[in-house]
Amino acid sequence: MAVRRILLIVGGGIAAYKSCELVRLIRKGGGEVTCVVTEGGQHFVTPMTLAALSEKPVYTTLWDLKNEAEMGHIQLSREADLVVVCPATADLMAKMAAGIADDLATTLLLATDKPVMAVPAMNVRMWEHPATRRNVARLRDDGVTVLEPDEGPMACGEYGAGRLPEPEAIWQAIRAFGSPDPLAGQPDFAGENHRPLHGRHVLVTAGPTHEPIDPVRYIANRSSGKQGFAIAEAAAAAGAQVTLIAGPVHLDTPPGVDRYDVESAAEMLDAVESALPAEVAIMVAAVADWRAAECANRKIKKDGSGEVPPLALAVNPDILSSVAASPARPRLLIGFAAETDDVVAHAQAKRLRKGADWIVANDVSGPPGTSVMGGDSNTVHLVTADGVEDWPAMPKDKVAAALIERVAENCRAHNGMKDDA
Ligand code: C5P
Repeated sequence: MAVRRILLIVGGGIAAYKSCELVRLIRKGGGEVTCVVTEGGQHFVTPMTLAALSEKPVYTTLWDLKNEAEMGHIQLSREADLVVVCPATADLMAKMAAGIADDLATTLLLATDKPVMAVPAMNVRMWEHPATRRNVARLRDDGVTVLEPDEGPMACGEYGAGRLPEPEAIWQAIRAFGSPDPLAGQPDFAGENHRPLHGRHVLVTAGPTHEPIDPVRYIANRSSGKQGFAIAEAAAAAGAQVTLIAGPVHLDTPPGVDRYDVESAAEMLDAVESALPAEVAIMVAAVADWRAAECANRKIKKDGSGEVPPLALAVNPDILSSVAASPARPRLLIGFAAETDDVVAHAQAKRLRKGADWIVANDVSGPPGTSVMGGDSNTVHLVTADGVEDWPAMPKDKVAAALIERVAENCRAHNGMKDDA
């Protein structure tokens, strides 16, 4: 089952502020959220904040639903694919377990015929209290998905289990909800290591750039952005916090990815610099090497003489080289190299010249429309300081999964070195 419409019930605990980030992640991932805030919840986040983030009305009391014909509580409880209670306080879970319906949130929870997920957050003693243990067991028996809270320092100064999981982890649980394979369609990060990039910031650039000549014309290239988007998606599926800087492309934002759209190389450089620091950067964008030296502010007209207007070009900034030279250089910096001949030799030279750690080189020879540009498959060579690996032809999502697996190995090895030090 695809979960797209979420009814989010925000309970009254300090972790309620994280529900704002959750709303943002659900929407970035292509979902819709309608929020209900309990009276307690409103002491921590305002309905206004949630309304602005969700771009929908926020409901706070049963009496908000004056116009039952327009939106009754039964309808509200059933319009979603999934009801998420976040944070689920001890009190809210006790009421859910007992079937109490004394406010809007609990009435909706009793009235819904949709699956319910509860994301608990509370003090460790409250979480471990036999009453809460009993309520959680009862809710699970009733078919409610109760996530496990994280362990760590708490707002109240104690330490233990009861912290709300990070919004990104909650979003991943929502995405996986109801799917037979929780990462269906995603690169295969099964088992214990299924979120090997958790907690790491990965920056990805993708797509072409458009370099304006005048208000209606621009210089462009054939990059579709598919490979970069697939890499951003694979990194998010591996648990990374992903920032994707995208040139003009017609692609949906992958789930869990923060996307910023830009047009020109200069804008892409600015966006990349603002997105740093990142532990890993993967520069997949086909940045235009040149731009029009001057961008006319009016459409350039034919003057009837048959003469072509002069088009002087200027060199664009090289984003990869400038990130490599920056004080905020990512620890692992990966470039791409689209080549039509001597693919590996050019990529090796490019790795050194641009100061990248790895270059993923691909052969883009072939007539327009048949090549890797815009296609779904890619044959690449991974060029590192240790040598060259030739990968077989694979769909772009498999190339992405394989590359992210290598990135995860690199991060693990780096952590190992730190632990040994
Ligand atoms: O020099 P070339 O365009 O082949 O280099 C490709 C690599 O350099 C890619 O990783 C691309 O994203 C990056 N690049 C860049 N800025 C440019 C040109 C290329 O970051 N102006």
